[in-house]
Amino acid sequence: ATNRTFTMIKPDAFGAGHSGAILKMMEEAGFKIISLKSTRLTPELAGKFYEVHKERPFYKDLCAYMSSGPIIAAILEKENAVEDFRKLIGATNPAEAAEGTIRKLFAKSIEANAVHGSDSNENAAIEGRFFFNEFEKIR
Ligand code: CMP
Repeated sequence: ATNRTFTMIKPDAFGAGHSGAILKMMEEAGFKIISLKSTRLTPELAGKFYEVHKERPFYKDLCAYMSSGPIIAAILEKENAVEDFRKLIGATNPAEAAEGTIRKLFAKSIEANAVHGSDSNENAAIEGRFFFNEFEKIR
């Protein structure tokens, strides 16, 4: 079925000027842009977004990193969006990411890994709602 996923272009990739190339890869892979903006998370907002990871050892660093600079947030639509998008971005750790994936091409480390992709339809909806209001998601 056609569904939606949520993505961020993280501070490392945005700051390095890779947003255009990354969005192009997403569009060429068939993802339609539904909502898109550049914004910046505060440490508090990053903490809220990544609340599911709050017991993880990397949580504090992750919140500092994700609030260290501007990002792009976007909702994308495609057939089988969540799963296909995770294939397009590659493994969390760029050292393990497949050739041709966005993380293989642009990620700097397991933390500064260029992009985010939702891991389920449910989380895609929750994450999209975090950044965009209802009328920004109308098609
Ligand atoms: P993402 O999958 O988008 O959401 C959780 C983020 O936490 C992940 O990307 C990385 O940015 C970061 N992360 C995950 N695992 C680690 C780790 N082992 N060390 C540091 N950061 C991590």
